Amino acid sequence: MDFELKTLTPARICAEKCDALIVLVAGETDAGTDAVSKMVTLALKAGDFENKAGKLLSAYRPEGMAATRVLLAGAGDGSAKSIRTAVHAAMVALKNTNARRVLLSLCALPQAGQETVRAAVLACADATYLYSTTKSKPAEQKLKQVLVAVSSLAASRAGFDKGVGLAKGLALAKEWANRPANHATPTMLAQAARDLGKLPGIKVEVLGPKEVAKLGMGSFMAVAQGSEEPLRFIVLRYDGGAKAEAPVVLIGKGITFDTGGISIKPAAEMDEMKYDMGGAASVLGTFRALAELQPALNVVGLIPACENMPDGRAIKPGDVVTSMSGQTIEILNTDAEGRLVLCDALTYAERLKPRAVVDIATLTGACVIALGGVRSGMFSSDDALAEALAAAGDSALDLCWRMPLDDEYADGLKTHFADVANVAGRAGGAITAAKFLQRFAGKFPWAHLDIAGTAWKSGAAKGATGRPVPLLVDFLLSQVQSGRAPAKTRTPKVGARSRA
Ligand code: BES
Ligand code: MN
Ligand code: ZN
Repeated sequence: MDFELKTLTPARICAEKCDALIVLVAGETDAGTDAVSKMVTLALKAGDFENKAGKLLSAYRPEGMAATRVLLAGAGDGSAKSIRTAVHAAMVALKNTNARRVLLSLCALPQAGQETVRAAVLACADATYLYSTTKSKPAEQKLKQVLVAVSSLAASRAGFDKGVGLAKGLALAKEWANRPANHATPTMLAQAARDLGKLPGIKVEVLGPKEVAKLGMGSFMAVAQGSEEPLRFIVLRYDGGAKAEAPVVLIGKGITFDTGGISIKPAAEMDEMKYDMGGAASVLGTFRALAELQPALNVVGLIPACENMPDGRAIKPGDVVTSMSGQTIEILNTDAEGRLVLCDALTYAERLKPRAVVDIATLTGACVIALGGVRSGMFSSDDALAEALAAAGDSALDLCWRMPLDDEYADGLKTHFADVANVAGRAGGAITAAKFLQRFAGKFPWAHLDIAGTAWKSGAAKGATGRPVPLLVDFLLSQVQSGRAPAKTRTPKVGARSRA
């Protein structure tokens, strides 16, 4: 889809030919004399329309306007969140129409700033996303063009560009998480990463079973050994900062299908375990967005990718393996495989001398029970990093919630037969999983995002959400602005690129 940003006067909005005109209405509206403003004033007065976020009123070929369809969309208090709700509702209402070109007017909003324009663009892209990869007759994406009209270009441009860049990352993340496991094998995921390597600033390296064995990733290899599909360890680099600048490392869980292994999962809804590479998908999506936005910092993405299958060669409950860190692990439950692939990626991250490491994983059903689909679970050993992630979640409308890491939570991981067990009891399962990971993350500021509840929607709207790409991108951009990097590499403007 094509997005364009323009300043338009109320008169021009009425005169612009388009298939649908969406007018966002928030707060106090000034009673203008153009046809659109008059319609808004009349409808509000008559009680046929309210400003409440998500309320709609539609008209067909109304007099005095060049648009075929007009949708008034209530945008509540005009906050980014309300605007997201409003645009989403309007785009869903247009879904079964033939609208190809939409004019989205933010002109009547009291303040259309960076965050509101970004929210509008993202909501547009999100509501119109169509999965088509494995359909023989893909549904046609009718909507081709969205013209976003604002009253001030200066106030909106940066937010608009961010929204367009993010939309590309979000779509890529959704695409890969939605794909069935036979269309998203570790090898295919590696190819998707290689394709990203053609974009400016991005380099990609892919390790196979031999290289991974040489590195001593015994824990990752143990999970992969039950599958015919060879594992891949994917390394992406985005170099936007100075050469000497320490990178932020993102690690995405890349289990392309999780049967549970010998500790096999029940059949019901097992199909959904194709999104067990949602963390990996969010790393790919974030790199896609970085290529668009070109911020001045260095980022490394690590994706341990494999399947978790039952097989004659598969790991068995009670098996003890040696991780890359040297720590031995007793695998009491082969379904707790995410932490087994992540721990070796965390050890690998040490060699990158990172300034921060964030792992992103569909790690536990317990996190779904704790936080549902609203907030991702966030765990961190570093207060500054935790605050930065929470703030990024707030600004990107992609929320997370910090969870505890008291040492007592690790008690259940003790075992007689290895340095650590891969599971504790059922109680506090999201936290004990995080405590397991923490053992491998002692040498850098570290955070863990459990996205089991937020990366996927079940039920009627079944599919990937693309989360937490917005959170991760805002977090990375904040790392440029906060200037944690050495002063000489700091650039005043996000989006500007300085190459040393
Ligand atoms: N991939 C699952 C976690 C998951 C569950 C993600 C539901 C999305 C929705 C993970 O590998 C897993 O199986 N975790 C187990 C851990 C348990 C064996 C300690 C779980 O949550 O049941
Ligand atoms: Mn599992
Ligand atoms: Zn899993």
